Amino acid sequence: MRAMTLADVDAVLSIEQAVQIYPWSRGNFTDALDSGYLCFVAEVAGEIAGYAVLMPGVGEAELLNIGVAASHQRQGMGGGMLSALCKIATDKQLYRLFLEVRASNLAALTLYRRAGFEQVGVRRGYYRDAQGSEDALVMACELSGKSNG
Ligand SMILES: CC(C)(COP(=O)(O)OP(=O)(O)OC[C@H]1O[C@@H](n2cnc3c(N)ncnc32)[C@H](O)[C@@H]1OP(=O)(O)O)[C@@H](O)C(=O)NCCC(=O)NCCS
Repeated sequence: MRAMTLADVDAVLSIEQAVQIYPWSRGNFTDALDSGYLCFVAEVAGEIAGYAVLMPGVGEAELLNIGVAASHQRQGMGGGMLSALCKIATDKQLYRLFLEVRASNLAALTLYRRAGFEQVGVRRGYYRDAQGSEDALVMACELSGKSNG
């Protein structure tokens, strides 16, 4: 995993558009880079196969986006990226990671639970579109405990 740059956005966007139901736009990624968010790509044999965007706050950070190319899913990349993100956040004195996930996103929910995230809240009807609305589950992972043990 390495830091994402503007030159990576085309490759990241093509994975994003293929794997996310409601993909981020190019502007979402360039804004994240411009804002100094912690943006990473994971490479396999020199090709970008995954990405993640972390928004740091005071002592905490929020995982805004994570995706793995379909051809690389279920091979441990998502879990590996989460572990690396936890280490990076801990090194930056961030003690808790938050995220929001669609209640129906079983793959992501399972990944997050296995990585040590627990549900701490629910935002009813948070995701809205023409088809209706869906709850967002708010999950958190305490990093201090991880770094100690
Ligand atoms: C969620 C996502 C990032 C997981 O990436 P991944 O590289 O496939 O994850 P891993 O291989 O590390 O999987 C870790 C564990 O998560 C669970 N998991 C992952 N994908 C799963 C799926 N499709 N169904 C059920 N469980 C799944 C499994 O427990 C898996 O371990 P196992 O393979 O040993 O059973 C990937 O599916 C993805 O990009 N999805 C689309 C984008 C998305 O939903 N992002 C999150 C919300 S922003």
